[in-house]
Amino acid sequence: MIWSRIAGTGSYLPERLVTNAELARTMDTSDEWIHSRTGIRQRYIAAESESSSDLALRACQAALLAADTPASEVDLIIFATSTPDQIFPSSACLLQAKLGIKGGAAFDIQAVCSGFVYALSIADKFIRSGQSRCALVVGAEVFSRILDWNDRATAVLFGDGAGAVVLRAEPNPGILGSVLRADGSQAKILSVPGTVCGGQVKGTAFVQMDGQGVFKFAVRVLDEVARETLLQCGLGVTDVDWFIPHQANVRILDATAKRLGIPAERVVVTVDRHANTSAASVPLALDCAVRDGRIKRGQRVMLAAVGGGFTWGAAVLEY
Ligand code: UT7
Repeated sequence: MIWSRIAGTGSYLPERLVTNAELARTMDTSDEWIHSRTGIRQRYIAAESESSSDLALRACQAALLAADTPASEVDLIIFATSTPDQIFPSSACLLQAKLGIKGGAAFDIQAVCSGFVYALSIADKFIRSGQSRCALVVGAEVFSRILDWNDRATAVLFGDGAGAVVLRAEPNPGILGSVLRADGSQAKILSVPGTVCGGQVKGTAFVQMDGQGVFKFAVRVLDEVARETLLQCGLGVTDVDWFIPHQANVRILDATAKRLGIPAERVVVTVDRHANTSAASVPLALDCAVRDGRIKRGQRVMLAAVGGGFTWGAAVLEY
């Protein structure tokens, strides 16, 4: 039997650090409000010259190094992003060229903040079916480009970054199971409604959000999908060593963990350091906990994410 297993993780945050205090100098907000409502202390903002594929490249290089795998072995790239470099080609193809490789499949996934979990689940199927042997799965965003910096209700919540894993075919598990879900009827509570037509942007190209609607929806579906995925794997909550939810808001993370009965010390929280980086948030948190020694080989990890669409999903794996 073929399993897909994470051989290495990597992440990258841009150089420019923006604290809550710095935002409060240009916006009617405060460190106290942002931290108490979200847990966020700071975010990183990409340079004007940096695109999602640039951030992804740095994260993928780190993941390949950690996996002791040359880029030439990669036969599949799945790139989760809502802020692609251009309309086409896909950021995955642009990343492939930057890695100096060619020939394998490469495509983008658009599932907003659930993008990495979607991408991981798809890559797992490619590997289990024998179609790929070595996949790069990356989430990368320059979300700062789609924020209205005059809208304090959304601008303070997000940041830029990238996280990646190398997924390899192995005789031992691996990814144990995953569940993906969507409900397009909820599109309006979190969206960027703008589109390009006739050489111009039609409609707003900034994030629009019903914060409380998203909050309630997120906690409910994260709990449901985590339980469904555990059931699929024949596991219970106590069989999981680490829970890595989408890093959107520490109150959503806490409420979800509480509903699931997972103690706070088994939940990886990094949102304070980089805010909500959408598709990059789960692999950023995973890489952080691997590199600081919390997640060890053989331990079970549950990833769960929710985002615009609405989309949501979870994956359980043995690291
Ligand atoms: O990947 C998913 C992405 N989305 C999310 O994660 C968002 C989920 N939702 C949330 O995290 C929360 O709903 C927010 C953090 C967005 C907002 O927290 P809240 O406790 O739901 O606050 P609220 O929207 O009810 O706003 C409370 C007050 C309002 O003032 P009034 O009407 O009570 O006078 C807002 O105008 O806070 C005000 N406010 C702010 N004040 C200072 C909103 N944004 C800010 C701000 N600084 N940045």
